[in-house]
This record gives sequence, C-alpha cells and structure tokens, in this order.
Amino acid sequence: MQSARKPDPTIIIIFGGGGDLCWRKLMPAIYNLYLDNWLPDNFAVIGLDIKEMSDDQFRERILDGINQFSRRGKAIEDEWKKFASSLSYQKADFMDAETYQRLSQQLTNIEAPWGKKSNRVFYLAIPPTFIEPITENLSSSHIAQDDLLDRIVIEKPFGHDLDSARKLNKIINNIFDECQIYRIDHYLGKETVQNMMAFRFANALFEPIWNRNFIDHIQITVAEEVGVEHRGSYYDHAGALRDMIQNHILQLLCLTAMEPPVSFSADEVRNKKVDVLRAMRKFNPDDVHKNVVRGQYGGGWLQGEKVVSYKEEPGVNPKSNIETFAAVKFYVDNWRWQDVPFYVRTGKRLAQKTSVITIQFRPVPHSAFPSESIENWQPNRLVINIQPEMGIRLRFQAKQPGLKMLLTPVDMIFNYGNSYTTEPPEAYETLLLDIMLGDATLFMRSDQVEAAWQLLMPIIEAWESSAPVDFPNYSAGTWGPETSESLIARDGKNWLILPAPNNNPK
Ligand code: BG6
Repeated sequence: MQSARKPDPTIIIIFGGGGDLCWRKLMPAIYNLYLDNWLPDNFAVIGLDIKEMSDDQFRERILDGINQFSRRGKAIEDEWKKFASSLSYQKADFMDAETYQRLSQQLTNIEAPWGKKSNRVFYLAIPPTFIEPITENLSSSHIAQDDLLDRIVIEKPFGHDLDSARKLNKIINNIFDECQIYRIDHYLGKETVQNMMAFRFANALFEPIWNRNFIDHIQITVAEEVGVEHRGSYYDHAGALRDMIQNHILQLLCLTAMEPPVSFSADEVRNKKVDVLRAMRKFNPDDVHKNVVRGQYGGGWLQGEKVVSYKEEPGVNPKSNIETFAAVKFYVDNWRWQDVPFYVRTGKRLAQKTSVITIQFRPVPHSAFPSESIENWQPNRLVINIQPEMGIRLRFQAKQPGLKMLLTPVDMIFNYGNSYTTEPPEAYETLLLDIMLGDATLFMRSDQVEAAWQLLMPIIEAWESSAPVDFPNYSAGTWGPETSESLIARDGKNWLILPAPNNNPK
C-alpha cells in the first residue's frame, strides 16, 4: 500500500529459519525484493532454528528454495552471491534465554558499522505454541523495545477460537504496541485482492450501484484442487472454517462490503473493515443448520489421477470429523447490504482451483423485449477473478448480429496478462516490504481477528456439539456436497458456473 520509497536499514530475524515457510515463501520473496532494488543498502537476515546448520548450509538451503519457488525461476549467480552475504544462521532453542543474549549481540554487531539502530523485524514462522515464550524472551532480553523500529510478525492461525485469540492478543499486546504487530493474512497481499480497493474506490461508476438496490446477492468461492498435502496433522485440528473462512474469505467479504475509507491510512481502512464484521448477522444454533454446510472429501479422481479420501491422508485421524469443505450464507445488517445474501464456499479437493468473487445484479425492473428475444437473457454480473485467472469480467446483454432482435450475454474483460507487461509480485513480497516500511494497512488488527472469531463461534460450537453423520459426503474432484447446492437453491439461486481460464463463461 506504500508509495515508492525504500525502507530504512533493516534486519529480519526469522524464528523458524530452517522451516518450510522460510524456504518456500519468505526467502524467495526477500530475494525478489532484492532483485527489484527494494531492499535498503544496509540489510541482513538472521535465520534461527533448532537444527544445527552453518551459515553456508543455511544459504544453500535458501538458494534451493529460491531455485524451486521464486516466480523468477533459478537465482542469477552474481546477484545471488551479493545477496547471500547478508544471510546468516544461528542454532537456537527458542525457550532458552541464552539464545536471546546471543541474538542481541549479533544484532549489535551487524548494526555497528551502519552507525544507527535498524528496523528489527522479528518474524515468527513457527507453530503457535512458541509465540508466548518467544515474545516474553524478546521482552526480557530488551532486544525489541523500540516502538518505532521493532516489529513482530505473526503467521496464521491466530488462535483456535475466540478465547484463544483473545489470550494471544493479550500476551502480545502486553509486550508490543498494536502498531508494532503485523498479523499476516497472505490473501491481503495478493495483487488482485489489493485491486479490489482500486476498483471500488478509484472509479465513480460502480459505487452508486454497489448496494441492495442493485445487487441481488454476492458469491465468494475459494476452491482448491489440492488435498491437505503434508499438513494433515495441522489441518485435522483446524478444518475449512478456521483455515480459510475465519481469515481469507472474511477479508474478501470485508473488501467487497466495506464503506469507502476517508483515507488509506492503516487504521482508517481497518476501521471500515471491522465495521463490516461487526454488522454481520449473528447466528443462533437454529440458523447454523439452515445457513451453514460442512463436507469432507472421499476418494475420487482429479486431473485423471486417483486420489485418496481425507481420512486416508497422512497425519489425519482415520475417524476424523473435520470438515474439508464449508459453505455459509452470511448477511451484513446495515443500510447498504440489508437482506443481500453473501454466499461463501471453500473446500479442498474440489473440481478446479479458483478464487472468485461474483456480484450478481438484480434483473431489469421491466423488459420491453418480446419473449423470443430474451430466451438467453441473464441479469448483469461482475466477476472478480482473484486467482489463477487474474482479472475482472462484466457481463451484460447485447444484440446478437442478425436480422432478428435476439439478446445474448457477453463479457467485457479486463485481464492482467493482456493489460500489463510486468509480472505481479508475490503476496509475501508486498507484505514483507510493507512490514519493513511500517505500513500495517494489509495486516489484521487485534479487533478484526476477534470480531471474525466472534462471528464464527456459534458455528464452531454447533458443529462441536453434533458430529456429522454423513462424512465423507463429497467425492474428490467435484464441487462439494449436495447440501451446498441446496443451501443456495433454497433461495432460488445457484452457484454460478465458473469461467474456465481465458475463456468466456458459458
Ligand atoms: C492457507 C491455508 O492459509 O492458504 C491453506 O492454510 C490453503 O490450507 C492456502 O491451501 C491457500 O492459499 P493460496 O494462496 O494458494 O490460495
């Protein structure tokens, strides 16, 4: 969200420097920031982890991650050598005070030739159980005391429910000021997600019709083809509601439903988003079974390959009741959105990988055309493609060429690939740069996290008190359980057919 300026001298300290996130996402993103000349001249990364590794072994591992996962492909040798010299590694026991004394010394040594204290970014790429001991040690060792320069970054999951999220907020807020805390939701760093703000608030065209008078309903689908991959033991304690809806999908909903901000200051934008969460209609236990659907995948076929059921995935309890699919009908009770349903769905092992927001407009109030002209007629629809297709489509009616007046739906398409030649940055590039610059707009504030949990608690409680009787209830490679179709069909609507990449939707 920042304008073009480089950060001040920065040291990024990655707790979990030997882990997957650092290897796959963080270091390829930092390397790309380096190639794009976004890093300050005085810059360093310190990886901390329990594994024994020399600096060189750490660098080799990071290089391997860049070669496999960087959007630019393999590292360029000369550039890599220059970049690698700013990386170092410390074997560390996160519970041990001595780790922090050594870290403090290392920070001082790195900063000494720079002549001033740098931004220190403490990145917690570790399981949640370590958050409390690490923050407490950072506090008692006095290495994160500067409100302006020191920052802490927390990955999701942020809590397991409302109580645990509140507890976590209390622990972190005891030590860090809210403006020093960066709670990551990587969806907010995605180029197309940021574009939602540009689209809605930089164009005069859409705002007057962005409300209940013109919009019939909104759909948000975040569908994945992958199963739980190597994360079975994490996922089997989370499930789709906690893993995707509590954070990514509610954030997409907030961006769709929020009021225009007065400015793009971090707190102004986050205030407007939290207003949406607070306006969302609370569920009572009866609403849960009417308005929420859960599912779990059985075995099936995806892209011509046979895949196993969720219960057979490594790390998953063979009797698991955890949902791998969830669909919810939400309402936002305010003047703009009263009685406009927001249908959201997400799941693993679905038919297609796609994240898309669909704004379905109301039909015209009166059609003057004869019935034979409007057989194919459809109300206007705006489709915001987040990924993998990136772009926006506006569907409207046109006269089909010919001697008869025949109306057919056509699409006006904005596609990133056709409109821009530059490749968009990865979400983590955007987010890491913002952290270094001290801009928290794209990060979750404590009240947002708690409001999202508060909204979902009745669903979590209802599900915990009655085990599903029909799991698995959808086959891998489909669009989820039949109950998901009935959730929306009851209102006389249907999940809209998703556009195949680079084709006009049917
Ligand atoms: C993560 C979830 O936050 O987002 C994963 O924990 C999910 O389960 C992932 O696969 C999806 O992210 P993306 O960027 O691939 O849509």
